[in-house]
Amino acid sequence: MLHHHEIAIDAARCIGCGLCRDDCPAGNIVLNGKTAAVLAQDCIMCAHCVAICPQAAVSISGFDEEPRPVGQPATLDPDRLLAAIGERRSVRRFADRPVSEKAVARVIEAGRLTPTGKNAQDVSYVVVRERLERCEALAVRLFRRLMPFVRLVDETARRTEIDEHFFFKKAPVAIVVVSKDKVNAALAASNMELMAQAHGLGVLYSGFFAMAVNHSRALRRELGLSRGQKAVATLVLGHPAVRYRRTAPKEPAVVALR
Ligand SMILES: Cc1cc2nc3c(=O)[nH]c(=O)nc-3n(C[C@H](O)[C@H](O)[C@H](O)COP(=O)(O)O)c2cc1C
Ligand code: SF4
Ligand code: SF4
Repeated sequence: MLHHHEIAIDAARCIGCGLCRDDCPAGNIVLNGKTAAVLAQDCIMCAHCVAICPQAAVSISGFDEEPRPVGQPATLDPDRLLAAIGERRSVRRFADRPVSEKAVARVIEAGRLTPTGKNAQDVSYVVVRERLERCEALAVRLFRRLMPFVRLVDETARRTEIDEHFFFKKAPVAIVVVSKDKVNAALAASNMELMAQAHGLGVLYSGFFAMAVNHSRALRRELGLSRGQKAVATLVLGHPAVRYRRTAPKEPAVVALR
């Protein structure tokens, strides 16, 4: 996490219900008589204690946002959600239309709110707009250098042309999802894609661009990435210039019941 956090329990508000103790995944809260107390400040700072307390007696310092009251939990219609997941396609043709700052901010917000292992919150985002062309040119240069070797061993690579729009397909913006933890970044990317879809945007995951970033010092410099920061996914975003009229068939799920 970026900042230091400390948990405090307001004894004057606490009614000793024990909900925070029972819900803490780390066994980090005890009841002293009728008042809850935190044992240590080195827990994962998941804030379940904040979220569950009926008295708003628990607070954690060091966050930029105040906890928001939750009324009826937000629900998703299962049929619509499944339809949205099933109807999305990788978009590789984009309209010559900008993507608003607001849409990009909401896509990033969907990533930020995605859970991370041990609540590490160790995923960051590089929004590439101004340096899109420059980054793509660097990635193209790298891939063109590597292609002759790849073509020796990979049949499909022999049919692949690395043109100057190979990575971003003329989209107006790309978001590089960065983390040292691949799972955390991939989970964030998936929610970000759903949010992009909700904004009517098309998305292409550019695995090739993420690969290029992780192999090019010049590209990493261009994106401001330090050592140890890995580009796990790149979401290429734009308004689609293509409409898919039916779903694409997929293999059945391989499910084992034991
Ligand atoms: C992690 C990941 C990386 C991908 N990287 C690329 C890429 O670099 N270039 C590309 O054209 N498509 C890329 N794709 C798109 C896949 O080829 C595509 O998802 C797959 O063919 C299925 O098509 P659909 O997404 O339309 O269902 C990537 C997809 C994923 C999930
Ligand atoms: S949930 Fe709130 S009121 Fe209940 S024991 Fe914990 S701090 Fe006290
Ligand atoms: S932040 Fe999470 S782990 Fe830490 S005391 Fe609260 S509930 Fe337990």
